Amino acid sequence: MRVLSGIQPSGRLHIGNYFGAMQQHLELQSEHDGFYFIADYHALTSNPDPKELAERSLDVAMDYLALGLDPEKTVFWRQSDVPEVLELAWLLSCVTPMGLLQRCVSFKDKVAQGLTPNHGLFAYPVLQAADILAFNSNLVPVGADQKQHIEVTRDIATRFNNAYSELLTIPEPRIIESVAVVPGVDGRKMSKSYDNTLEIFAPPKQAKKQIMRIVTDSTPVEDPKDPATCNVFALLKLVAEPSELAEWETRYRSGGMGYGDAKKRLAELMLAYFEPFREKREDLTKNLDYVHGVLANGAARAGAVARDTLNKARAAVGLTQA
Ligand code: ADP
Ligand code: TRP
Repeated sequence: MRVLSGIQPSGRLHIGNYFGAMQQHLELQSEHDGFYFIADYHALTSNPDPKELAERSLDVAMDYLALGLDPEKTVFWRQSDVPEVLELAWLLSCVTPMGLLQRCVSFKDKVAQGLTPNHGLFAYPVLQAADILAFNSNLVPVGADQKQHIEVTRDIATRFNNAYSELLTIPEPRIIESVAVVPGVDGRKMSKSYDNTLEIFAPPKQAKKQIMRIVTDSTPVEDPKDPATCNVFALLKLVAEPSELAEWETRYRSGGMGYGDAKKRLAELMLAYFEPFREKREDLTKNLDYVHGVLANGAARAGAVARDTLNKARAAVGLTQA
């Protein structure tokens, strides 16, 4: 079974990316045929600084490798090193109704958050469909916010198959519902675009500072508190053992606990969780040739698969000469 996913290098990776997506990518690679990539074409839709985009792409590569991506088993590449997906995206665009894209919540959300939309942002789901369909993916592990994009992909693939020939594999999403959407320090969805993240590899001092800034309500210390609506508790759920989490739940509900106590413990647990990977991450920064080599090798392997699908798709729509 082929498992494929991508992450945008639009900022430093955060724990929402990790618990919502990367953790399952890494788990799945042992049993499945893993195809993971750095979605730098997609990141361009938010017009990043060119130097930063290049640096962030490398950061994402190092983060994945440090956290356990195994390049022997898994094909790992930078999206823009396999430009065949752009041509496939065009072929798919021509079977995609405007209305399908107009209904996309992630587009509407970004506009509502103040981003001035460009055509790339509007067409984003078509390129994502090309990413998935070029590699005959069966399973796409993503965070809950991406569910609609996978539905759009299925819709586009079905339209293409009906219009031409049964060429494209219809993928299934894989979403860990229990993680749902990880909140950021301001309570909105944690996102690189909202400047509200807890970075996976932030220096410990910075990580503690960011955690102490998590927004909570103004319930006085002595009063009972509702864990279900608390951002700190939502994050504790990700890193605390079930028995410890149950204790925190009782402390919340019985009152007499300040949010500061929960935040301090969250900082300890979060740092301890990622500690084992820090050294590897540090080593990779001194070994960039290795990182570039992994990406080049991944691009060669991914490129061969994408070219094959693209050639078949070109023939199906009538672009090849008789
Ligand atoms: P960001 O919103 O930070 O730019 P991306 O859109 O690049 O993140 O998402 C990369 C992956 O991480 C996707 O599969 C997405 O669903 C997941 N993800 C991102 N933010 C969160 C979050 N706050 N909670 C859960 N999963 C998330
Ligand atoms: N849109 C995804 C996100 O923001 C990133 C992405 C691009 C992706 N292409 C993909 C995810 C293909 C899964 C499959 O998270």
